[in-house]
Amino acid sequence: MKFIHVTDLHLVARGEMLWGNDPFARLDACLQDIAAYHQDAAFCFISGDLTERGEKQAYKALKHRLAGFPLKTVLMLGNHDTREHYFEVFQDAPADANGYAQQALDVGNRRFLFLDTVSEPFNAAGWYCQDRQAWLQERLASAPGDIYIAMHHPPFDINIKYMDRIKLEHHQAFAGLIAGNPKVRHLFFGHVHRVVFGSWRGVPYSALPALNHQVPLVGGSVKSPYSDEPPMYGVITLNEDQVLMHYDAFWDRKELPDPPRPRKT
Ligand SMILES: [Fe+2]
Repeated sequence: MKFIHVTDLHLVARGEMLWGNDPFARLDACLQDIAAYHQDAAFCFISGDLTERGEKQAYKALKHRLAGFPLKTVLMLGNHDTREHYFEVFQDAPADANGYAQQALDVGNRRFLFLDTVSEPFNAAGWYCQDRQAWLQERLASAPGDIYIAMHHPPFDINIKYMDRIKLEHHQAFAGLIAGNPKVRHLFFGHVHRVVFGSWRGVPYSALPALNHQVPLVGGSVKSPYSDEPPMYGVITLNEDQVLMHYDAFWDRKELPDPPRPRKT
């Protein structure tokens, strides 16, 4: 099976620029590209920071745009989102029994868990309270087969000071929940606005660029706090013996002029 990972839209009002870029233009281009080439994907998930300031107007515009998008889309929240405004606009969005925007999706034998790591009251760092931990514990225990977890905040440092200060606060509790569970096959996250992959306590993980602006790997390598680097979406294919992942830089993909072909002599 195949699915799509998109993250950190940071939407503002349509036509409004953010850090010199147009978040909606990039979302449009991203969704158009996915619709053109990946309609065979089972679903698409967006791992948080749907909006820049949590405004209802931005959620409404997103809802309107997704109405014309052919893939089932799972929305998640990040620290730039407002849970209350999100649920006011996406009234039918799944929530757990405590009102957090968490959901489980079973596709065949595989279970996908989409976590809500947003802190309230506001804190840019991630939060995973005991109620949410209990929800996760139950879904982990009842999973019929392999488990794939998506969350906005990474539960570990990535050696970028700016991001490490705002990772998941309850990283030890989270680690305890998934420790030694051989069914947990991969961890997807957003928040860090760049390509990161590796493994943590034996679990492979991956993150990808945001759509609008990126976090420079080395602070000070550009004069602005954020950088303009290629946005991407992820195409993930799960086979019996493989988790295959491609990141496609849709915004920067350009044709090359047909080069002269040297002849073999
Ligand atoms: Fe973000």
